[in-house]
Amino acid sequence: MNHPLPEVCDGILLKQEAIESRVRELGESLVRDHTGHDLRLITVLRGGLFFLSDLCRATDMPVSLDFMAVSAYGPAASGSVRITKDLDDSIEGASVVVVEDIIDTGLTLHYVLEVLRRRGPASLEVCTLMDKGVRRIVDLPITYQGFRVPDRFLVGYGLDLDGMYRNLPYVATLRDEVMS
Ligand code: IMP
Ligand code: MG
Repeated sequence: MNHPLPEVCDGILLKQEAIESRVRELGESLVRDHTGHDLRLITVLRGGLFFLSDLCRATDMPVSLDFMAVSAYGPAASGSVRITKDLDDSIEGASVVVVEDIIDTGLTLHYVLEVLRRRGPASLEVCTLMDKGVRRIVDLPITYQGFRVPDRFLVGYGLDLDGMYRNLPYVATLRDEVMS
């Protein structure tokens, strides 16, 4: 499979092979830390789906999956988030790992964690493939992190620009001209 770099991008930040090998390591870490526990991997649709799909297959132990969807409302960066699709299963007593594609300001995830914490999981952790640390507004407990990434707009492996490019098997940087 050969997805040529889209015109709107100026380079590849994370190659497919680099993502694959990091995802394998993260899966091994999940097994090491959660063997014998009721492990639930939860992701926030839609971007995290690609990472979740690869991560759960790299996690060689019984695990169940569940999904949420949220949409931001109100002024940008106000952190106001509404749940548009909730989990199907109770997480009471479960070892929950929230799986994210990328964390930027952290506001979305902060809200999701608040909601989940009130439901009484045995543990609540975060596994993110990418972390744009510099723009973080709220402090988040990130247990598993794939890559630290620069403050550029990224597409691919779940990340989109207006709904497009999620299916690229690599992560690419958008040209600055495209953003403005
Ligand atoms: P936060 O609430 O600012 O942490 O936003 C995180 C969400 O913003 C991610 O789950 C992505 O959906 C989206 N996002 C953040 N950075 C990028 C990017 O570089 N490209 C595409 N989507 C992004
Ligand atoms: Mg997301």
